Amino acid sequence: MARKALITGTTGQDGAYLAEFLLGKGYEVHGMVRRSSTENFERIAHLRGRVTLHQADLLDQLSIVELIQKVRPDEVYNLAAQSFVPTSWVQPLLTGEFTGLGVTRMLEGIRLVDRSIRFYQASSSEMFGAVREEPQNEHTPFWPRSPYGVAKVYGHWITVNYRESYGIFACSGILFNHESPLRGKEFVTRKITDAVARIKLGLQDKLRLGNLDAMRDWGFSGDYVRAMWLMLQQDQPDDYVVATGEKHSVREFVELAFQHVDLDWRDWVEVDPALFRPAEVNTLRGDASKARRVLGWEPTVSFPELVRMMVDADLARVRREERGQVRD
Ligand code: NAP
Ligand code: GDD
Repeated sequence: MARKALITGTTGQDGAYLAEFLLGKGYEVHGMVRRSSTENFERIAHLRGRVTLHQADLLDQLSIVELIQKVRPDEVYNLAAQSFVPTSWVQPLLTGEFTGLGVTRMLEGIRLVDRSIRFYQASSSEMFGAVREEPQNEHTPFWPRSPYGVAKVYGHWITVNYRESYGIFACSGILFNHESPLRGKEFVTRKITDAVARIKLGLQDKLRLGNLDAMRDWGFSGDYVRAMWLMLQQDQPDDYVVATGEKHSVREFVELAFQHVDLDWRDWVEVDPALFRPAEVNTLRGDASKARRVLGWEPTVSFPELVRMMVDADLARVRREERGQVRD
C-alpha cells in the first residue's frame, strides 16, 4: 500500500515542490489548505487530481485533529506559516499564532491521534539572526531578530520537546534561504528576477530595494524538499541544518540577474530606506555537513544557476502574460 503524506502549506513554494517529489516516490499525497474567498492553487495546478486537498487551518485545533484522523498519514510535513519576515513586525501576534503555536497544534494532533506518525517541522536559519559564529550548524545558539524568527525558535523547541516528552519521531529541519521560480514575489530574489524580466521587456523602469549588503546562503527549493523527506526516512529523529555553505550579498544577486539579460543594474536599481528592517539579519551561512554525512544530501543547483533559472522563468512568464495567455 502507498505511504501517505500530509503536507501543510501545500499551496506555498516548498509545498508544491514537496508534493511533486512525494508523488514521484509513490506516496498518496494529501494537502491541507485554508479557506479563502478565491482559490490560490496556481503552484500546484499541474498536480490537480493527484493531490487530495482538505480544508483546515493552523489556528483551528479541532480542524487539525479531524484532518489527521481522516487522512491517517504516515508522515506529516508542517510547512504552513506566516513566512514573510517584514509582515511579522506588522502582525507579530498572528505570526506567533501561525508560525509558533501552529506547530504545537500539529504536534497535539499527532499526539492525540497516533504517536507513530512521523513529523517534519520547517524551521529556519532566521533563528540564528545575529549570528554567534560562522558558519552556523545545529549547535550554534539562536538569536532571532524578528517576531518571525522568535516564533520559529518556539516551533523548533516544541518539536524537540514533543520528541523528548512523547517519543514522537519529530524532526526540525533548519533550512537556509531557498528559492525557485515558484518563490513568492515579495521575497528579495523573486522581486529582483520579476523586475529584471519586466525591465528587459520594457514594462517597468525602476527596482526599489532595501539593504543590498545583506548576505544569504541561497539554495534551490527543489533540492531542499529532498532533505525534508530524507530526515523522515532515518532510524532516529534528529535536527539538521540544510544549506549550500556559500553566502552572497543581495547586491551580487542583483548584479548577476541584470547581467544575465545584458543590463547594468546600476541603471535600474534604487535603494529605498523604507525597505530596511527594524532589525536586520546581516549575514547567514550554513554548515550542512551533518545532512551531507547522515542523510547523504547534496545541493545540485549553484548560485549562478539559481539566478539564471529564476530570471529565465520570469522572462518566459512575463512574455506569456504579455501575449495575453496567462494572468497572475
Ligand atoms: P510560503 O510560500 O510562504 O508558503 C506558506 C504556506 O503556508 C502557504 O501554503 C500558506 O497558505 C500556508 N499558510 C499560512 N498560514 C496558514 C494557516 N493559518 N493555515 C494553513 N495554512 C497556512 O513559504 P515557503 O517558502 O514554501 O516555506 C515553507 C515553510 O518553510 C514555511 O514555514 C517557512 O517559514 C519555512 N522556511 C522557508 C524558507 C525559505 O527560504 N523558503 C527557509 C526556512 C524555512 P496560503 O497559500 O493560503 O497563503
Ligand atoms: N523582501 C525583501 N525586499 N528583502 C530585501 C529587499 C526588498 O526589497 N531589499 C533588500 N532585502 C534584504 C532583506 O533585508 C534581507 O536581508 C534579505 O534581502 C532577504 O530577504 P527575504 O528574501 O525577504 O528573505 P529573509 O531572509 O528575510 O527570509 C526568508 O528566508 C528565511 C530563512 O533564512 C524567508 O523565506 C523566511 O520564511 C525564511 O525562514
